[in-house]
Amino acid sequence: MLMLGIETSCDETSAAVVAEEHGAWAIRSNVVASQTAIHREWGGVVPELASRQHIRDICGVVRSALDSANVELAGVDAIAVTQGPGLVGSLLVGVSFAKSVALSMSRPLIPVHHLAGHVESLFLQHGKIPLPLVALVVSGGHTSLYLVKTPGSYRRIGRTRDDAAGEAYDKVAKLLGLGYPGGPIVDKLAKQGNDRGVELPRTRMTHADRNAPTVKGDLDFSFSGLKTAVLRHVRNRTAAGGALSDKEIADICATFQRVVVETLLDRLFESADRFGACSVGIAGGVSANSRLRTDLIARGERVGLPAFVPHISLSTDNAAMIAAAGLRNYHAGLRAGWDLNADASLELK
Ligand code: KG4
Ligand code: ZN
Repeated sequence: MLMLGIETSCDETSAAVVAEEHGAWAIRSNVVASQTAIHREWGGVVPELASRQHIRDICGVVRSALDSANVELAGVDAIAVTQGPGLVGSLLVGVSFAKSVALSMSRPLIPVHHLAGHVESLFLQHGKIPLPLVALVVSGGHTSLYLVKTPGSYRRIGRTRDDAAGEAYDKVAKLLGLGYPGGPIVDKLAKQGNDRGVELPRTRMTHADRNAPTVKGDLDFSFSGLKTAVLRHVRNRTAAGGALSDKEIADICATFQRVVVETLLDRLFESADRFGACSVGIAGGVSANSRLRTDLIARGERVGLPAFVPHISLSTDNAAMIAAAGLRNYHAGLRAGWDLNADASLELK
């Protein structure tokens, strides 16, 4: 079976063909057109520019995904598309395009949750994973822990109360004047710095959420305090005039990165322990982070828990993971009607 996946939730237009043979998935193509160069000028993603660029790119990206997979549109068995969450204008481009293709070719249309796609990137990369798995989805918009007891079931057991980890990276890079997107730049500079070079606090959630008292909050995350601590440090250092040296910037990046990675991994391994997980994994844009990847593997080996990371090309937004999640949904009997709409705040519970 051949699944065409389409992803346009944020600032990447992506299309992919994933084949399923005897229950195993194989990526036939995974084409991503990134809009980073467009948004960099504005210091972040501009939703209106993003949706307009998706419209320009979608036909060429889908054509290129079919060509690289060496299939015609008629050879595709079903179309999977990201329904949400994300930027509504961006999502609408993918949803409308996928609907048109599915309708005109008389193929089933499969709706996919973007974060389910990130979790499925782990299964797409590694095949079978010992279950239950605790997956940490860390991206520009989300930082959530999911318990996966059976393939295709996702129970959220932790989340961020404020900033997502990727958002914290982007904001810290911005206040250090490093440009957009912040994650890859901070990651690179962190390698040249001392990861104990500055004093930064770690936030520990130990109390239930005032707004949702039934939710036990001690597996939750909070990154806005850390971001504010970096801001305060930079203001104190530059109050008397003068700029930060390259060495100081590298030390801030390295320390910030250590605190983020330690916080993420502490919570991940703690939840694995609490829920009796047989494996852990990371997915989403921040899972491209070099320290997060190496520390995860090292820690997994130390405690004897298999730890999984997707290939970098499957960490950041891509349509192969959407096609994979589409195959999962297809077999579960999920089909979208022609009234499928984008949902900017779609929940995956
Ligand atoms: O999953 P993704 O591509 O898009 C969303 O769904 O949000 O994640 C994008 C986020 C951005 O915040 C970016 O700064 C971050 O992933 N990111 C990284 C790295 N590469 C991308 N964060 C830390 N280290 C990296 N190497
Ligand atoms: Zn994403």
